[in-house]
Amino acid sequence: MGSNIKAVPILPRFGAEISGVDITKPLEAATQAEIVDLQNKWGVTVWRDTGLDDASHVAFSRLFGHVELAPRHKGVMRFSEPELFDASNIDADGNIIDNELIRLNSKGNRLWHTDSSYMEVRSAQSLLLCHEAPPEGGATWFADMRSAYDDLPEEMKTRIDGLVAEHSYFWSRRRAGYPYTEEDIDAKPAARHPLVHFHEGSGRKSLFVGAHARDIVGMPRAEGRALIAELIEWATQPQYVFSVTYKPGDMTIWDNLCTLHRGGDFDDRGYRRDMRRTTVRAGAAPETADDPFNEMFKAAGPTAYNPDPAK
Ligand code: OGA
Ligand code: MN
Repeated sequence: MGSNIKAVPILPRFGAEISGVDITKPLEAATQAEIVDLQNKWGVTVWRDTGLDDASHVAFSRLFGHVELAPRHKGVMRFSEPELFDASNIDADGNIIDNELIRLNSKGNRLWHTDSSYMEVRSAQSLLLCHEAPPEGGATWFADMRSAYDDLPEEMKTRIDGLVAEHSYFWSRRRAGYPYTEEDIDAKPAARHPLVHFHEGSGRKSLFVGAHARDIVGMPRAEGRALIAELIEWATQPQYVFSVTYKPGDMTIWDNLCTLHRGGDFDDRGYRRDMRRTTVRAGAAPETADDPFNEMFKAAGPTAYNPDPAK
């Protein structure tokens, strides 16, 4: 028997709005498999009016694999679930954040990126749930890196075949306006990933590039950065892109291994925007169930943004 799950495509090759299933409750294995298949196929799924709370958000996320512990980048967390990443502009007292460095950090999310590509062990699905939306702006934008790869001119496919990019968290923050020098960034951790890879969930090839990508290994910096910029520009052309506007209860799920995303502009001093995210580890290996993000920040040493990395 087929289920009642309905998937309405957003673009012909990318993104679908899903309905017809209550995801606040435990799901049968067949339903779980169907949801994973839809996610693998469409790259981004949009779920309206889910009814999820913090606990059921985390529980539903486990359907995709190992849910990461969130980096503790804001110090005091607002939630009891250690898996919830705080993507809001709100502090632990419930006030709009006016700390300039933390605001800049969030501004980094408005560059086209893929979550935690600066880690060796990558993230696959990110599940972003809206708890409070601003009255205007604050959408999330998505771009289709599989179709963007498929449509590349053959000469570009040949040029990038076998190339490896180096990804650094600190590089993307610098580009958002954070006061790091090139030398600072050179001294901090980075991770290497092929520019093109097989997306296992769909068997398609995908570009893997975004705001954290800083250099192409073995290429002069200027040339590598020009190539990275060209590929991001290519992948974010209108035919590969759509945006999602949220109401409380709405959720987007994107696959970091075949999509780019960016937060849309909004008045982050004037309006509250409460977004909470879980992130599923690629490969879902339980032995990586530790806390590599916080390990990386500890290794990076103190910063003004994260003054006490021992915590
Ligand atoms: C994220 C992110 C964008 C947004 O949570 O990883 O990039 O729209 N969010 O909040
Ligand atoms: Mn992100």
